[in-house]
Amino acid sequence: MKRIAVLTSGGDAPGMNAAIRAVVRTGIVKSWEIYGVEQGYSGLIAGTIRQMGARDVSNIIQLGGTILGSARCPEFKTEEGRLRAIRELRKRDIDGLVVIGGNGSQTGAHALSEMGFPVVGVASTIDNDLYGSEITIGVDTALNIALEAIDRLKVTASSHQRAFLIEVMGRDCGYLALMSGIAGGAEAIVIPEVETQPEEIARELRGAYERGKAHAIVVVAEGAQHDAEELEQYFKTHKERLGFELRVTRLGHIQRGGQPGAFDRLLATRLGAAAVRCLERGEYNVLVGLNKSEITTTPLSEVVATKKEIDLDLIELAQELAR
Ligand code: ADP
Ligand code: F6P
Repeated sequence: MKRIAVLTSGGDAPGMNAAIRAVVRTGIVKSWEIYGVEQGYSGLIAGTIRQMGARDVSNIIQLGGTILGSARCPEFKTEEGRLRAIRELRKRDIDGLVVIGGNGSQTGAHALSEMGFPVVGVASTIDNDLYGSEITIGVDTALNIALEAIDRLKVTASSHQRAFLIEVMGRDCGYLALMSGIAGGAEAIVIPEVETQPEEIARELRGAYERGKAHAIVVVAEGAQHDAEELEQYFKTHKERLGFELRVTRLGHIQRGGQPGAFDRLLATRLGAAAVRCLERGEYNVLVGLNKSEITTTPLSEVVATKKEIDLDLIELAQELAR
């Protein structure tokens, strides 16, 4: 019999619960003992680890967030912290760990695996900045939440002949902003991957105004070189350059807290089950992800060493569409 543990780490993402459920239930089917770790790597170090049965994951597939809790844990970045974590796992004879999380969490998973503990990562973050999975758990739901907000803001923007600057999450990655901007029909999209000067955006907005548009939407990624705050300041002092009156909305954590949609529930279920299969066949120190519609594994060493690139064609398309 095997004993495995599962944890969720970093920023929570809609679908994490579906992944936990899949790990617990597919593990139980193999007659393994499954342990849930509370609050990510903090719980691993503190030893807040409990056995989970099939009923412990009842009625959670539709819930956002994570029933195990999540945390940012600076101590895990130290070797001493990771040694303490390994001690807690070994004390319970746990011989494998599933880490559901994003870039930072998988860096931690890799560091743990380098110290000889078998780990399998499950790609989960709304940022979609993780190499090894074309799309990660939570992205689709977060995107739909951002899109709904953009649609609503567009309605009021049109009524009042206004421009809206909408800041979306994504840390240093422009994926959420780019995709929600394209799908929401934005007049301008500002992402970290492309340097955009405030004057360029002002020109876009003025152009939209002069072409007779009733509104203008600018989607700004939080990690953009000139972020929403800076752009707002610029536009406040250069009102005449816009044409439109401007309002600013920061979507923030609203994008993270949603109920997972069908895509994320299914992705999370498939990835969670795949992680258990990896542990079963002894394929450790990999990330399970989705690539070209297939479940794949990528070595964690490659995942942490490679930057996920954004599709430059889509950036060009976004610019063409904003006429
Ligand atoms: P995400 O996984 O969503 O990207 P973070 O970047 O906050 O979130 O990372 C989550 C946690 O992963 C951190 O709080 C830390 O415990 C762990 N982690 C991040 N980077 C490292 C690292 N270089 N070494 C070990 N652990 C790390
Ligand atoms: O990684 C997910 C994410 O929501 C990022 O988009 C954002 O930059 C960050 O987490 C916010 O972190 P916190 O929840 O700690 O404010």
